[in-house]
Amino acid sequence: MRIDILTLFPEMFSGPFNHSIIKRAQDNCIVEIYLHNIRDFTTNKHNKVDDYAFSGGAGMVMTIQPIVDAIESLTKERQYDEIIYTTPDGEQFNQKAANTLSTKQNIIMLCGHYKGIDQRIRDHFITKEYSIGDYVLTGGELAAAVMTDSIVRLIPGAMSDETSALTDSFQDGLLAPPVYTRPAEYKGWRVPDVLISGNTKEIDKWLFEQALEKTKRLRPDLLE
Ligand code: 6GU
Repeated sequence: MRIDILTLFPEMFSGPFNHSIIKRAQDNCIVEIYLHNIRDFTTNKHNKVDDYAFSGGAGMVMTIQPIVDAIESLTKERQYDEIIYTTPDGEQFNQKAANTLSTKQNIIMLCGHYKGIDQRIRDHFITKEYSIGDYVLTGGELAAAVMTDSIVRLIPGAMSDETSALTDSFQDGLLAPPVYTRPAEYKGWRVPDVLISGNTKEIDKWLFEQALEKTKRLRPDLLE
């Protein structure tokens, strides 16, 4: 898989992409992630990337020329499955979207900033618009990093068995059950007996009950 990220702040991604599973996935050629600075595509003298909104009011709008040139520099090289725009007024990103996107070959993620991008880019180039939740971030970069992380870890080979994605919260429609490790007792706090019983059938039953109870309590909407 190849992910191209178009942003005004490529440095914002160096933390999340250069550690742990996402770093290893790149090292092992399971994913290629390319960061492109939109400012590099400006043709005006001062490398300006924004301008006032025709509708007035506070806040700047990202201009059409550098973004279209950045997108076209990529689409002329290869076919893209999706051109995604990260924006608080997009569709809510979730595990199902991550699963679907993890099966794609090439995707572009365009990160919005300021008041957003000129609507004509959305009308003519963008195939999917995602928000990561009902709160406002300073820009789309953190959202794109979150989405990339959740997509890349699902690509076959990105994770070892011990970190299997199959037992994640949401993957089976339930929140994940509690987990424990050694010691079996610490300051008098004991691990539930069933987990040290060695009875795998009873353990699986307990895990399912715990997941169901937790989901009912914290996220009843997931059971509807
Ligand atoms: Cl994708 N962008 C911004 N700026 N804020 C957000 C978001 C995206 N998703 C949730 N809040």
